[in-house]
Amino acid sequence: MNKRSVIGTPLSPSATKVMLLGSGELGKEVIVALQRFGVETIAVDRYADAPGHQVAHRAHVINMADGQALRALIEQERPDIIVPEIEAIATDMLVEIEQAGIATVIPTARAAKLTMNREGIRCLAAETLGLPTSPYAFANSLDQLRAAIDAKIGYPCIVKPVMSSSGKGQSRIENSDEVETAWNYAASGSRVNQGRVIVEGVIQFDYEITQLTVRALDAGGEVKIHFCEAIGHLQVRGDYVESWQPQGMSPLALERAREIAKIITDDLGGLGVFGVELFIKGDDVWFSEVSPRPHDTGMVTMCSQKQSEFDLHARAILGLSVDTTLLAPGASAVIYGQLEAQGIAFSGVVEALSVPHSDLRLFGKPESFKHRRMGVALANGANVDEARSRAKLAASRVIPIKA
Ligand SMILES: Nc1ncnc2c1ncn2[C@@H]1O[C@H](COP(=O)(O)OP(=O)(O)OP(=O)(O)O)[C@@H](O)[C@H]1O
Ligand SMILES: [Mg+2]
Repeated sequence: MNKRSVIGTPLSPSATKVMLLGSGELGKEVIVALQRFGVETIAVDRYADAPGHQVAHRAHVINMADGQALRALIEQERPDIIVPEIEAIATDMLVEIEQAGIATVIPTARAAKLTMNREGIRCLAAETLGLPTSPYAFANSLDQLRAAIDAKIGYPCIVKPVMSSSGKGQSRIENSDEVETAWNYAASGSRVNQGRVIVEGVIQFDYEITQLTVRALDAGGEVKIHFCEAIGHLQVRGDYVESWQPQGMSPLALERAREIAKIITDDLGGLGVFGVELFIKGDDVWFSEVSPRPHDTGMVTMCSQKQSEFDLHARAILGLSVDTTLLAPGASAVIYGQLEAQGIAFSGVVEALSVPHSDLRLFGKPESFKHRRMGVALANGANVDEARSRAKLAASRVIPIKA
């Protein structure tokens, strides 16, 4: 019998143990999905009482960028499967763990390593796989950045730290007067490796999508690729504020989007959900980046699909079958903290839920910041426009207050 087709009993010697590295709102939902299959879950984050900590069998607080600390925890917990939920992890240690056969890393340690750094994934996509991307260059200093823009990229362009997410340290610049500010901002927003940036030419897209792509085993034990309907989204400050599914696309753009998603996910390999970020203009499609894990814009699937992206991830990594069927057009709208405080409360929840076909997720983050994502409103509608209006209305009715 295939080992993957056996699931044990949590908190017993037979347990199937899954460790989440990163336990934010996305990790929390993956843990809930795993719990439903009787999986023993271990939530890890850099701060106490993270959303996923609150729903897992055990919670740990460590610096996941510290390879020794990570290894010590993995040896203590002995998970069967390790699921990176964030990018800032000592991925070289994950490579060692995988090579030593200590645990399976989702989707693979190589994928986690390549995607934690914009340089790794961009060079793979554009140079090795030949996928269409924005023009780009890397720079280690302000002078190099200026030279790269002058020689190759031009204006407008976007400067990003090579290691950052959610738009941190990212700026769009229109002319040479803004280069120094963008350089300094990128250095301040970089997660680990200060002082290396990517500069990209701006793609004047009509819209952008996340193509959720699932690699899962079929009944015969072969890896099969499944596509969700395209998710459209709106980004502000490099962070998502609204998403909806399905995004209408021309047949050719959809075909190209899926072709790109297949090429990149085939290369990254392993099992699980991938969020392939693409820019679309008419029938043209550009690859932007890929998350080898559920994607924040994919939270809409909690109301729009039969199996949410979290159910899909849980099932795929356990070696189970998946179903990407869309149930109804849906939308998500982010609820920000709007204030800086510990232990805030949310008023207006009843009013929010009085919006027809709406729902809410409050993540339970212990500390609120003005632009911290604290929850999300979900809604269905007869079409995407109706779903979006409802989700935005529901989100706007939730008011963070000091407790
Ligand atoms: N070259 C580009 N041309 C046009 N728009 C871009 C480009 N690069 C980034 N953007 C815009 O900025 C957003 C965030 O960029 P990107 O995905 O690279 O950053 P990120 O920090 O990884 O964000 P996240 O972690 O939320 O995905 C994109 O979704 C897109 O709206
Ligand atoms: Mg992105």
